[in-house]
Amino acid sequence: MAFHGIVILDFGAQYSQLIARRIREHHVHSVIVPYNISVEALRKLEPEGIILSGGPSSVFDDGAPHSDPAILAMGVPVLGICYGLQLIAQQMGGQVRPAPNREYGRALLEIEDGSRLLRSLPSPLPVWNSHGDEVVELPRGFRQTGRTESAVAAAEDPQRDIYAVQFHPEVRHTAHGDEILANFIFDICQAAPDWTSQSFIERTIAEVRQTVGAGRALCALSGGVDSTVAATLVHRAIGDRLVCVFVNNGLLRQNEFPTVMASLRRLGLNITGVDASERFLAKLQDVTDPEQKRRIIGNEFIRVFEEEAARLGQVEYLVQGTLYPDVIESVSVRGPSATIKTHHNVGGLPEVMKMKLIEPLRDLFKDEVRRVGADLGLDPEILHRQPFPGPGLAVRILGEVTPERLELLRAADEIVFEEIRAAALYDSIWQSFAVLLPVRSVGVMGDQRTYGYTAALRAVHSEDAMTADWVRLPYEVLERISSRIVNEVRGITRVVYDITSKPPSTIEWE
Ligand code: XMP
Repeated sequence: MAFHGIVILDFGAQYSQLIARRIREHHVHSVIVPYNISVEALRKLEPEGIILSGGPSSVFDDGAPHSDPAILAMGVPVLGICYGLQLIAQQMGGQVRPAPNREYGRALLEIEDGSRLLRSLPSPLPVWNSHGDEVVELPRGFRQTGRTESAVAAAEDPQRDIYAVQFHPEVRHTAHGDEILANFIFDICQAAPDWTSQSFIERTIAEVRQTVGAGRALCALSGGVDSTVAATLVHRAIGDRLVCVFVNNGLLRQNEFPTVMASLRRLGLNITGVDASERFLAKLQDVTDPEQKRRIIGNEFIRVFEEEAARLGQVEYLVQGTLYPDVIESVSVRGPSATIKTHHNVGGLPEVMKMKLIEPLRDLFKDEVRRVGADLGLDPEILHRQPFPGPGLAVRILGEVTPERLELLRAADEIVFEEIRAAALYDSIWQSFAVLLPVRSVGVMGDQRTYGYTAALRAVHSEDAMTADWVRLPYEVLERISSRIVNEVRGITRVVYDITSKPPSTIEWE
């Protein structure tokens, strides 16, 4: 299907998604496709421009990724970034060699007059580099438009509409990087800035209406941003023929079930709340292994959901809040890595239930989902909620999950939430929460010896949960959280702060 926008060929760069996002920030649609896409497949997309991303390889590596050279002759403007520049040079008859001086980090770009891509930028310009090869001879028809101390840093062939830079315009360390991308997408590609949240909403509603026709759809809500936005969009399209189910698995936070139900009802969703707490807790009795906990919770969820669906009779579609980073057929970053934790708890649902999937957010990044949610009138409470794992507090209670331990953790978690909010830190932190450890230690309160549990406090900054760093919380905040937990939660007598990053640790403790 034609999509009109910029197509990014992914050569395995850690920055491919960043390029896509930067372009979308200019309200131009962008998609990421594998580098080995065929010319025919690419032509079908009717791109307004093509970007060849960077990548970890050297063009000299055995098996280095090479796109079809015919892509450069399609008559669509091309921008090569880093590896993209070297590949263009190599494929069009220039010369590339391993650089005697590799360039990593900051460099100063001297811009030459008359460049279309670097038009009206100040020179010298601080740019961000990361390359080991360099172009020593440009292909015929190209001219150098910028250089850094040790390399050709920008070149273009306006006749054939091919542009290339050695540095990374998509990272914030490159000054005016956004203008470079804007020059490409607007001046060179003549793309229209029509990728807006409103246009997305209208298009998606029309598509869902067409797909579902007179049928019915079901959606499992979690109270998080993604499933709520997905459900709201589908609800706008087909009204109460969308039935939403919110399952209380007994592992939610303090008051979460009633609060979330109320806010979802305010959105006008046709929603059924199912309190299955006892079933889940009974299944979790005596279980201590984290993966087994996840499996039990995942399976039980499917069972509860199936029972609810059976009550409704014939339902053809299942709505899920899958996001773009999960569907990119990327050769990059994640690769076929080993399962570290079984995350997708409802992953088994569509096969089990023989339903067709509707994923209205599969083209969006998280920040775009929030914008769409805001335009749909969702509560800021829901939009800015920190992520919460599907297996809930079960993976934050090390060892067996019991009602008593849940109560302790809920109370401690609520204090963390209140204090992080009171310090105005909630929105800037990716996740902040308490973990209950089955470790007991000795203390003294009043004149009494105590022997109670330990709570670990975890707060991390992250962009996408793939990597994370612990938050340098102010001492006063740490102090308030610690003293409130120990004073107010009878049974927890010690609080520690987790100062490990991910990797090597993970965000959750289990
Ligand atoms: P980790 O602990 O792997 O977590 O660093 C990364 C992100 O995923 C969330 N998480 C889960 N989400 N089911 C979920 O839906 C799970 O089993 C699960 N385990 C971790 C975690 O909260 C963090 O945002």
